[in-house]
Amino acid sequence: MQHQSYPATRLRRSRSSAWSRALHAETVLTPADLIWPLFITAGESEEPISTLPGVSRWSVAQIVDRAKEAKAAGISCIALFPNTPANLRSADGKEALNPDNLMCQATRAIKDAVPDIGILTDVALDPYTAHGHDGIVDGAGYVLNDATVDVLVQQALNQARAGADVIAPSDMMDGRIGAIRAALEAEGHHNVQIMSYAAKYASAFYGPFRDAVGAAGLLKGDKKSYQMDPANAEEALREVAMDLAEGADSVMVKPGLPYLDIIARVKAQFHVPVFAYQVSGEYAMIEAAVAAGAGDRDKLVLETLMSFKRAGCSGVLTYHALHAARLMNG
Ligand code: PBG
Repeated sequence: MQHQSYPATRLRRSRSSAWSRALHAETVLTPADLIWPLFITAGESEEPISTLPGVSRWSVAQIVDRAKEAKAAGISCIALFPNTPANLRSADGKEALNPDNLMCQATRAIKDAVPDIGILTDVALDPYTAHGHDGIVDGAGYVLNDATVDVLVQQALNQARAGADVIAPSDMMDGRIGAIRAALEAEGHHNVQIMSYAAKYASAFYGPFRDAVGAAGLLKGDKKSYQMDPANAEEALREVAMDLAEGADSVMVKPGLPYLDIIARVKAQFHVPVFAYQVSGEYAMIEAAVAAGAGDRDKLVLETLMSFKRAGCSGVLTYHALHAARLMNG
């Protein structure tokens, strides 16, 4: 690259008008880049989530309406999470395997009413366990890897049979991508994708999500024995390499903004589709800033979403998806 100096080069020239700024934009953000996470309740009416202002749990019937709104706004895909009734939570999380659980009901209803929007389903046991962990625990509370993978495979098949398009394991067990891929292939779900939560960190930004799925009060201890240490980047690349080798179609980095460096490194090294999850605590931070008069919601939302695209993401999971899509649609 040839470097010229001032005044032959004035980088402000191309910034001097709106048309020119548009012409020089290196990155584009569109509604199709967004995945909208939605929470399902067994109740019949909307349940606002106090730590996620503006986000609610919806009944299965209401979720169908949300899917229609998402489709109309140009959003590609929705991600589903259940708030399982307390009486259906157990040590082994077996409600995850019920073909009539909230996830499967919602998946079937959306597929029926809005067939051309993608449905991403989360694979992990925390919305179903009485202890709030993502897997099966031993007597000491340690999450057992291989026993958990056996259940996750069954959970993924249950979701695929209900019509899920993208299976998204968020549990961070070793070997689960290969095991799930093999089971999907064996049952003929050849085009059901796997988006692996490959680099998922043990983060303080998941608090409002745990309220939303009703796991907050249940969880004892932390998830550091399976989710990643925020100090590590090399290890994230190893996680991604393993999940790709096992058959992941795309990989996710989570949370989003504090881990933009990981996104950029994954993209540079592997050249595969990378997604970011702008998680609940990030959403809550933006909303808190807005409520405090410290920023403009629309601009904060679009700037943060653009940063993921710039870092190398194909798309972003964000609770602001519908709002952002509508802003972009004008
Ligand atoms: C469950 C799961 C979590 C999130 C997505 N899937 C929480 C956790 O790992 O404790 C967090 C999403 C968010 O905070 O928005 N395995």
